[in-house]
Amino acid sequence: MRVTVVGSGYVGLVSGVCLAVKGHDVTCVDLRRDVVAQLNDGVPHIHERGLPELLKSVLASARFRATTDLHAPIETAEIALIAVGTPSKNGAIDLSAVRQCARQIGAYLATTPHHLSVVVKSTVIPGTTDTIVREELEHSSGKKLGAFGLGMNPEFLREGEAIEDFMEPDRIVIGQEDERTLARLEELYAPWNCDKLRVNTRTAEMIKYANNAILATQISVVNEVANLCAAVGGVDALDVMRGVHLDKRWSPITPLGRLVPQILTYLIPGCGFGGSCFPKDVQALRTQGESLGLPMNILNAVLDVNAAQPGQIVSILERKLGALSGRRTLVLGLSFKPNTDDVRESASIKIARDLLRAEADVRCYDPLATENFKLAIGIAANRIQFSSDWRREVEWAEIVIIATRTQEYGELTSLRVAGKTVFDARRLINPADVAPADYLTIGRRLN
Ligand SMILES: NC(=O)c1ccc[n+]([C@@H]2O[C@H](COP(=O)([O-])OP(=O)(O)OC[C@H]3O[C@@H](n4cnc5c(N)ncnc54)[C@H](O)[C@@H]3O)[C@@H](O)[C@H]2O)c1
Repeated sequence: MRVTVVGSGYVGLVSGVCLAVKGHDVTCVDLRRDVVAQLNDGVPHIHERGLPELLKSVLASARFRATTDLHAPIETAEIALIAVGTPSKNGAIDLSAVRQCARQIGAYLATTPHHLSVVVKSTVIPGTTDTIVREELEHSSGKKLGAFGLGMNPEFLREGEAIEDFMEPDRIVIGQEDERTLARLEELYAPWNCDKLRVNTRTAEMIKYANNAILATQISVVNEVANLCAAVGGVDALDVMRGVHLDKRWSPITPLGRLVPQILTYLIPGCGFGGSCFPKDVQALRTQGESLGLPMNILNAVLDVNAAQPGQIVSILERKLGALSGRRTLVLGLSFKPNTDDVRESASIKIARDLLRAEADVRCYDPLATENFKLAIGIAANRIQFSSDWRREVEWAEIVIIATRTQEYGELTSLRVAGKTVFDARRLINPADVAPADYLTIGRRLN
């Protein structure tokens, strides 16, 4: 099939490349000329494991190309996937990029009898595709739904594992408002053999939000329990969670032994969730609920707990060590999770800001994410030293904070850390490998 993907970021580019790998003819469109030029040279502008190799192979097979010109590829496409950003603006979803795409596509539809299915892949609040996107398309094309098709196909990939998630998805949700779009989406995803759910566009939109809201809720409730464990004393939240994990409803016992579902990685005390999805999606859903007169009590609490969680680190350090002024502090991990360069809403931004406010001497390590982190933290970056060798910096540091669950940092305990304060905010290392007086974490009272 001929597919145009509008927006070539984490979702658009990964989707476009993977669809081309499966045999479709794909054009990725983006506003940014630099991004398009780079992609046509075979160099992704984002970091995602396996993406450079796949991009090169689909370019070589001529099944993939990038352009800034939306009109040329949609002239022959059967599907246009909208995969532009939907950031948060004062807690509500900012749909301006989605609207703009719909208007641009509609302007093209006005000039041609060509039938195109417009499918939203961006995360949009329930009711967006069949109202806002539809209206923009109808208004700018002068045509009614039917003269074009409409669909919503939410994306569930996780950064850092995006290629694997797209190529081997747990499910594909096909939301549509017309039979022709349903048939096209079936054909698009025919090479995938996984559970497929056919629903209307509102349901598809809500599935994506419900999924993220429920995962985020689990993280916040675990962190609230962890904070309580620390306050109670004599109890480590990680031991508590291990006990919870053994409930067979979380980890079923089968004849082959106990299953250890991935969901358990969300049920570990830590410094909160970040990234380009959970925080903004939960905020957007809360705002939608409140605008409809619902109190949205749980999602409010999920966000409150999460906003406060990274602040635990400096406050625990200060309780333990007193003023941090001039203390040599190393932060390991700047992205919101391992194996990505994405720092959007990363806890490390708040941690670094808190450390600078406390006048600590701050060094940070995360080569993949350093450039994005500098942009995110702005002028404060001048007061931070960014390192390319974390092991060497450990020798320099008095305080080492593990801020992402990057496996490599687990080697910390094989270095000389005696007398240094190790703050394991992600429960990566075994506390027994550090002198009790030097070990700090979330969910366990100070020694
Ligand atoms: N990043 C994730 O892990 C993830 C996972 C699932 C869903 N999503 C959702 O997918 C959507 C995209 O997220 P992302 O992380 O890929 O965003 P992103 O910011 O990485 O990429 C968006 C791209 O769209 C381009 N763009 C903006 N307006 C455009 C226009 N009018 N025409 C052409 N290009 C345009 C931008 O230049 C940018 O390159 C969001 O709604 C997000 O919530 C993201």
